[in-house]
Amino acid sequence: MPELFHPYEQAFAANPYPTYARLREQNPIFYSAEFGLTFFTRYRDIANLLADKRLGRTLSHVMSPEEKGEKHRQENWQAMPAYSRFVRVNLLETEGPDHVRLRRLLAKAINARLIGGLRGRIELLVDELLDGIADHSEIDFIADLAVPLPVHVIAEMLGWPVEERHRLRPWSADIVRLYERDHSEEDVLRAEAATQEFAGMLGELADRRRSDPKDDLISAFALLESDGDTLSADELIASCMMLLNAGHEAVVNSAGNGLLALLRHPEQRQRLQRDPSMITTAIEEMLRYDSPLQFFHRFALADMEYGGFEFRKGDTLGLLYGSANRDPAAFEHADTFDIARDPNQHLAFGLGPHFCLGSPLARLELEILFSKLLQRFPDIQLLDEQPRYRTGLVFRGLRQLPVRL
Ligand code: HEM
Repeated sequence: MPELFHPYEQAFAANPYPTYARLREQNPIFYSAEFGLTFFTRYRDIANLLADKRLGRTLSHVMSPEEKGEKHRQENWQAMPAYSRFVRVNLLETEGPDHVRLRRLLAKAINARLIGGLRGRIELLVDELLDGIADHSEIDFIADLAVPLPVHVIAEMLGWPVEERHRLRPWSADIVRLYERDHSEEDVLRAEAATQEFAGMLGELADRRRSDPKDDLISAFALLESDGDTLSADELIASCMMLLNAGHEAVVNSAGNGLLALLRHPEQRQRLQRDPSMITTAIEEMLRYDSPLQFFHRFALADMEYGGFEFRKGDTLGLLYGSANRDPAAFEHADTFDIARDPNQHLAFGLGPHFCLGSPLARLELEILFSKLLQRFPDIQLLDEQPRYRTGLVFRGLRQLPVRL
């Protein structure tokens, strides 16, 4: 493995892009014994592989648990009772006909009407959050705005009771901690506890909504379930869990990374303030320039070859989306933050069969948040030019982002 790839070190977290640039040049495809997988760094390879039917996010449909166990003994966290039970039937971890069926059902429920209906609620939520900080001169953008917004939006969408909303963020943080490889035994126990509590409450809520449906996603899912064998009880719980996890951590991190990029580039920020209609391309550029999700894996579903490398059935391929999005072969002046960039075919939302189902909602939340923030606090400034990022290979996000309003 190239010596310079240490994604769990603070130096990498501070700025992974010079490392990615070196890798794209010198070792665009490399095997890491430490991770037990082959990493890909170039846009073209990653885009090709995401569309390649010989790969999938799970092996469950092509390998027995025993075969898989041999191959992936190190992933023993998958053996946890509740966590693994729900991960197994979660959209993001299914392939083939199960994935097609689940994706169709979820896409039917998370439709344009639902998202359009949330616009007014999101505007109100952002106004309330901005009212809450209006008489502060300094805030932590992450804790005060970026974290509460997506949690509230998901809670609204699911129809989660207002008095129970404070539980969602800690549950999600405990569960997604396991996505990173450097988690501890204690993290495993916390994730399991969070999964059990969340699943318990979801089950109760779904039961209540089945007899007394409301205009929310849990009701929509609960009615689907009772409609026949379309969405099982476990699938209902797994789907809501994944919406909380998928739909929230990445929005927090894209808001933080995006604001940092904007404030570090005063000329781009002025451009946006002069012409607020540039918000759409500005959000896409924030997602590309410092992507909140930098890495996903795929498994080889059969023996295969790609780019001169041989893979055996069950091998893992690591796709560095964060590197692809800075590849000069795909983006002109890839390291330049340009809020007018168009076209901008970034991979921040993935590509292919698992392309992010929540991208319209994520875009809407970010557009409303940034538009209102800049309108209301046009002089917003960084208080710390070098805020610290959390370490991680999958998630890329700031611990804090102190700003002066
Ligand atoms: C800026 C915020 C977001 C980013 C960057 C993001 C990114 C992604 C990415 C990269 C994937 C594909 C993973 C892969 O290729 O293996 C994905 C899948 C998914 N995302 Fe998002 N996401 C965001 C927000 C959301 C929101 C708000 C929701 C829902 C409310 C959501 C729901 C999903 C779902 C359901 C999938 C699984 C799709 C499937 O497996 O077919 N995401 N997301």
